[in-house]
Formats: sequence, C-alpha cells, structure tokens
Amino acid sequence: MELYRGHILICSGTGCISSGANSIKAAFEKQLAEKDLSGEFKLIETGCHGFCEMGPIAIVYPEGTFYCRLENEDVETIVEEHLIKGRLVKEKLYNPPHSEDKIPSYKEIDFYKKQHRIALRNCGYVNPEDIDEYIVKGGYEALGKVLSEMSPSQAIEEMKKSGLRGRGGGGFPTGLKWEFASKTESDKKYMICNADEGDPGAFMDRSILEGDPHSIIEGMVIGGYATGADEGYVYIRAEYPLAINRLKTALAQAKEYGMLGENILGTGFNFELHIKEGAGAFVCGEETALMHSIEGKRGMPRPRPPFPAVKGLWGKPSNINNVETFANVPVIFEKGADWFASLGTEKSKGTKVFALTGKINNTGLAEVPMGISVREIIYDIGGGITNDKKFKAVQIGGPSGGCLPEDLIDLPVDYDSLIEAGAMMGSGGLVVMDEETCMVDLARFFLNFTQDESCGKCTPCREGTKRMLEILERIVDGKGQDGDIELLEELGETIKTTSLCGLGQTAPNPVLSTLKYFRDEYEAHIHDGRCPAGACSALAKYVIDQEKCKKCTLCTKVCPVSAIEGKPKEVHKIDPNVCTACGVCVDTCKFDAIKKG
Ligand SMILES: Cc1cc2nc3c(=O)[nH]c(=O)nc-3n(C[C@H](O)[C@H](O)[C@H](O)COP(=O)(O)O)c2cc1C
Ligand code: SF4
Ligand code: SF4
Ligand code: FES
Repeated sequence: MELYRGHILICSGTGCISSGANSIKAAFEKQLAEKDLSGEFKLIETGCHGFCEMGPIAIVYPEGTFYCRLENEDVETIVEEHLIKGRLVKEKLYNPPHSEDKIPSYKEIDFYKKQHRIALRNCGYVNPEDIDEYIVKGGYEALGKVLSEMSPSQAIEEMKKSGLRGRGGGGFPTGLKWEFASKTESDKKYMICNADEGDPGAFMDRSILEGDPHSIIEGMVIGGYATGADEGYVYIRAEYPLAINRLKTALAQAKEYGMLGENILGTGFNFELHIKEGAGAFVCGEETALMHSIEGKRGMPRPRPPFPAVKGLWGKPSNINNVETFANVPVIFEKGADWFASLGTEKSKGTKVFALTGKINNTGLAEVPMGISVREIIYDIGGGITNDKKFKAVQIGGPSGGCLPEDLIDLPVDYDSLIEAGAMMGSGGLVVMDEETCMVDLARFFLNFTQDESCGKCTPCREGTKRMLEILERIVDGKGQDGDIELLEELGETIKTTSLCGLGQTAPNPVLSTLKYFRDEYEAHIHDGRCPAGACSALAKYVIDQEKCKKCTLCTKVCPVSAIEGKPKEVHKIDPNVCTACGVCVDTCKFDAIKKG
C-alpha cells in the first residue's frame, strides 16, 4: 500500500457536488500535479458530512482541518499555504454564527461536537467506492463473526438485546421483526431495504447509501442469515442516481470479495442482492405498497395482517427494514448488543439521524443519542434560530409527525415522548419555525403534500384529506367559518382511525398537533380575520406602532390606495378595509414603525 504524507478528503455527496465539489476536486488534482505533490497527498472522494450548507467541503488529514465554502481559486492557496508551508488558510475555515472565531478542526465545530455517529460512522471518512477502505475501518468483520460464530437464533437474540428499533418511522423492535420472519416456515424468504425516503426534507438514507453503501450490504446479509432469507432487494427512488451508482459499485465489489453471492466467506451461506428503482411516490415507502411495486404492480398498500413476515414479496415471508436501521446492524455485532443498549434511553436505544431544516443556522444532518432534548439539537448543534428571531415551534417527523411548541423545547427526543406529545419520530425530519411562521399555513403545507400523495384506495384518506385541505385553504384565505376547527378535529380523528395505511392514519397529525398547541392562531384567522404571524397574505394587514411612529407623513404619501390617515404631528393609522397589504409603506418608514399583524 502506498504511503502518503496527507489525505485530502473532498466531500462528494449530492449537496457538495451541487455546490461545485467536482471542480474543486479537479482543481486539487491540477494543483497537486503542477506542484509535484501527487505522490505525497492522496485525494479521496467521500460521502456527505452532514453540514451540506457549508459545501463544497474539503478536510485535510492528518490535522483534520475543515475547509468550507470553497471556490476554485481557494485551492491554489490551500496547496501553497497549508500543504507546502504548513500554515492554515484562515479565510476558508468555519466561522460560527455570532463569532469572529475561525475553527480549524472538524471535531471542534459545534455542529459536530454533540453528535454521536453510529449510522453515519463512515460517511465523510471513507471512499464509498472502495471496499478496502470499508474493510480497513472494520467493515465486514461483523459479518464474519455472525456467520462463523453465531447461529441464526443467536444473531436474533443479540439484535433483541440491543434494543434497536426501526428507523423508518414506526420504531418497531428490529430483533422481534427478524424473529417473526425467521419463524415462518418457507422454502424462500426475502430481506428488503426500504430506501424510498419520501419525506420532504429528509436525506439521511440517501447520504448513508452515497457515503457508506457497504454498511447496508453488510447489515442486509446479516439480516438474511438471521431470518433465513437468501435473496434481497434494495428499493430506492430513481431520483437518487448517485446513491444507486455507488450501491451498484459496492455490490460488485462485495461479490468479488466473497461477501455476497454464493458461499459467503466460505461458510456455505448464499445471499443475492438486487436493486429496484422506484418512481418516487410517497406511498411506495409503505411496506406492502413497496412490495407490490417490486413485483411490478401499482404501488398500493394492502391490509395487514397478513404481515410481510408471513406473506410478503411474491407471497413469501419477507423482512423489511429502513436504510438507517441496517446501517446500525454491523456495529451492533462488532461492538456488542450491550454496548449499543447502553446508549440512548430506556426504551429508545442508540442514536437517530435528524435532518435539520427551516429557520435554523446550521441546517444539515446530525446524528445524536436518543433522549437528547429538542433544545440541544436546535441551539447546541443547530446554532440557534436564523437572524436571531424567536423560536416558535418545531415540526418533527415530516408529514406523519406533529408540531411541538416552545414550552416543550426541553422534551427528550425519543419514540415514546414524541408520540405522547402528539408528534412522531418519522424518518427524522426536523423543521424549525420562528415567529414569522403561520402554524395554520404550515399544517396546510403538510396536508397538501399527503393529500397529493394519497393513493386513493380508501375513502377516508382520499376524500377526507381533500375536505380538510379545503377548510385549511379557506382559513388561510380569510374565509374561515364558525365550526371549522371542530370539523377539522372530527375529520382528523375519523381519517386516523379508518384509513387503511400509515399515510392516511398519520396525515391529520400536523393539523391536530397545531390545533392542540396553536389553537389561538386558528381562532385569530377565523374570528378576527387576522394572521398573528403576519404570514398569510390574504389576512396580513399592516399596522402602525404608535410608540415608534414619528408622525412624519412619509407613509401617507406613498400608499397607492390612500389607506393611511395622518397629518403631521397627528397619530397615523392604517384603515384595514382599504389596505391591500402591498408593503410599500413598510419599506418607506425610516423608524421601523409599520408591521404586519
Ligand atoms: C406512507 C408511508 C411512507 C413510508 N415511507 C418510508 C420510507 O420512505 N422509508 C422507510 O424506511 N420507511 C417508510 N415507511 C415505513 C415502512 O412502511 C416500514 O415500516 C419501514 O420501512 C420498516 O423499517 P424499520 O422497521 O427499519 O423502520 C413509510 C410508511 C408509510 C405509511
Ligand atoms: S390510507 Fe390513503 S394512501 Fe393509504 S391506502 Fe388508503 S388511500 Fe391509499
Ligand atoms: S401596505 Fe400598502 S396599501 Fe397598506 S397601508 Fe401600506 S402602502 Fe398602503
Ligand atoms: S454533501 Fe457535502 S456535507 Fe453533505
């Protein structure tokens, strides 16, 4: 193996590629060649580090220097200064919000400090297209151990002992699921990986597949051995071409190395793995719909029971797990179930990857121990709210989840606490809202998504979500009526209890949770014709803050519809019946006295 003085890890996840990582890599190649350094520094393409907002990112090892937001012309400076002269290029180091500091080391950045990476352990560290790098980091060790030292039932016991719960949303214990599949007698069984990832804003599964595909293959082969399956499918949406390509490369390498296919590691165990590309419908992430889709049928759910463990793909017993669930499997066998079970809370073991988005400074992917508080995620890892606005709420779990208000900011994030609070872990989407977000409008956004994605098979979901959406649209348009809130609640509860699949059963959650915690906002829209957040354009009327107004008459002159009454030294007022909410007066007022209300 060739030895190098240093390694330059270029993030080549989808986020960094879209911000120019490929040309940064080319610039490094050119500079290293020109300066005759190609034999001294190795360029390695890695998967996502999670802090995509800072892309393109390059980390120089052995120091672990984190360079971010790179532009092509920075590369020559880094090569000249850092690689040749050993001096840090301060301008390209990470600069945290509200600080002049420049942080040189990857590990010292707040975004990473409180993270505990298990599922993302190799993302950003290994070249996902090189099986040797995975093996050097301990990859496929767990597979060897399980196949040579454990019986399938011992492997299942170990999984049960670890306490791992599925990361795809519901949080069902993985070991128990494996046990159900193993107990069904059959000549044929399947192991399926759900990489559909339909939740808007979530990209953890894509990042794991792009950054560490071998961990999924290893987890699936172990799962296959434990349950008695000799064939598997990774169901992945076609919109993820980089993940698909890296997975294909990894499959070929795993086969070549004897980790997949016939007689794996010489133990006599056979396991074949295929990729099935999905067309990207949210409902296809539902396990029975997903199996129909693999079979070439329309992706529509069917009633359960029978559960997939009894009657799954092509009528055969099947086990389906999420990408992040599988990524945890090899580590559990490598380090032991007790080690894994020592992390997290009593009923939610290990870690969870969250996709942080919305009005938060550090958007990205963060893996944290279960039980961490919402506050720690938002402030310590996420760097707080953008533009120092006030935190209002957080939507956890995407369209299946719910909204938590400020007084629940210290809630521990685990499966059960979230359910109790009216939210849900879901796939781990976490959207942060500030005071300018209208909660009615937010509920409308999520319901619009689920209504659109409903497969239409059952009436409560197909028709009910449509009716709920119509009511919400009316409310944000300022046409809410008495009784709308009660109707939303009644429809929501009915849809939840009568829908066939999880899509319909959870679709009302964003509406019901916002009604629970932000009922006054709904009432303000309906009864006062007012949007307290000032976000709904049909209701947003401008008001003049009497304290701040200097009675200068400037606004009265610019208002195109003469909605402002006011003479010099007299109180100025906006007539809400005339105001068209054009916002011109706000831009004109020099004293910041006009606000939406
Ligand atoms: C509408 C709908 C969409 C879903 N989408 C996904 C998805 O994209 N990825 C996923 O892993 N699970 C998804 N699920 C959950 C799966 O049906 C299934 O429970 C999960 O893949 C099981 O894996 P786990 O036990 O490892 O969580 C979805 C469920 C529903 C009802
Ligand atoms: S609940 Fe909705 S998505 Fe699920 S089967 Fe019924 S109509 Fe289709
Ligand atoms: S928002 Fe436009 S219409 Fe309303 S008071 Fe100001 S300038 Fe006039
Ligand atoms: S893609 Fe580079 S940090 Fe996410």
